[in-house]
Amino acid sequence: MNRPIYMNNAWYAVAWSHELAREPLGRRICGYPIVLYRTADGTPAALEDLCCHRLLPLSLGRIEGDLLVCGYHGLTFDRSGQCVRIPSQGTPGRHVRVRSYPVVERHRLVWVWIGDPALADPAVVPDLHWHDDPEWTFVGDLLPMNCDYRLVADNLLDLTHETWVHQTSIGHALIPACPIETTSDGGSVTVSRWILDHEPAPFWRFLMKRVRGYEGRCDRWQIVKFVPPCNVVLHIGVAEAGSGAREGDMSKGIRAMQLNSITPATADSCWYFWSFNRNFLHEDEELSSTLLTTSRRIFGEDQVIIEAQQRAMRENPAAATININLDAGSVRMRQMIDARRAHEPGTSRAD
Ligand code: FES
Ligand SMILES: [Fe+2]
Repeated sequence: MNRPIYMNNAWYAVAWSHELAREPLGRRICGYPIVLYRTADGTPAALEDLCCHRLLPLSLGRIEGDLLVCGYHGLTFDRSGQCVRIPSQGTPGRHVRVRSYPVVERHRLVWVWIGDPALADPAVVPDLHWHDDPEWTFVGDLLPMNCDYRLVADNLLDLTHETWVHQTSIGHALIPACPIETTSDGGSVTVSRWILDHEPAPFWRFLMKRVRGYEGRCDRWQIVKFVPPCNVVLHIGVAEAGSGAREGDMSKGIRAMQLNSITPATADSCWYFWSFNRNFLHEDEELSSTLLTTSRRIFGEDQVIIEAQQRAMRENPAAATININLDAGSVRMRQMIDARRAHEPGTSRAD
């Protein structure tokens, strides 16, 4: 049996809030088919996306008030998954139901809990508060990826790859020469790197000029924090070289919070929710548009690499790989997921 690759008892981002309307939305999460919809008062609901009659995905049905009606023969379910109507038949028994999932809407995202419902504590939804903090302005998107979700986290936990994958935007020849520091506690893994006193990469040069009118040398930071089940919070930015950013004074620079939630769909596909949040030029719509376009292009460059990596892994299952120093964050991330998973009862359907 393959080793399970993801935790069950965790909140997974399943959709952006704006994706969820009065239409059912089907999305596979950790191997489970899930249908999401909003009840009449806007509350999100999450049910198994399989009608218990003949397995038509309920996402092909329609919403009536707070109820979801199967699009084949009209069995109708409430948000707890209980069937409340079978056409041409009396009241359905308690056993006529589909599974429902705990669901929470927070930080512009809808989260579901696929494990034991008794453990679904909304207090432990990952902290992505920058998404709805008025001090920060959001752009973001969803990128479906054909790869093991951990490969996306690997990519984010070692930003050295920017030098080779993102040469025209955020890559810089100095990045590989600047050491990383990797730390972890019981709940997160953090990889930090400072690139001091350099001519900034094109993306950052553009932003420093636009925001601060500054065109000189910069200090740059990349502080990358992994939080299970698979969220990666990047605090990134640049400041005028030697202005004290590393010592804590970032006032002569610009900061961004680049937030990533990577949710397994199956063992080799995932949903990549990403955002770029800035605390400057909030009203600048043209800048928002530029940041959205540039970020999409950068993540598209990652997608080409990671999906090719996944194909090579699938086609060469016996091929050996090595770890290098730069993999420290990735190794600890995988250890953390494995340790959490090992303490869970049961296994997921896709294991
Ligand atoms: S398959 Fe859903 S009502 Fe028949
Ligand atoms: Fe990248």
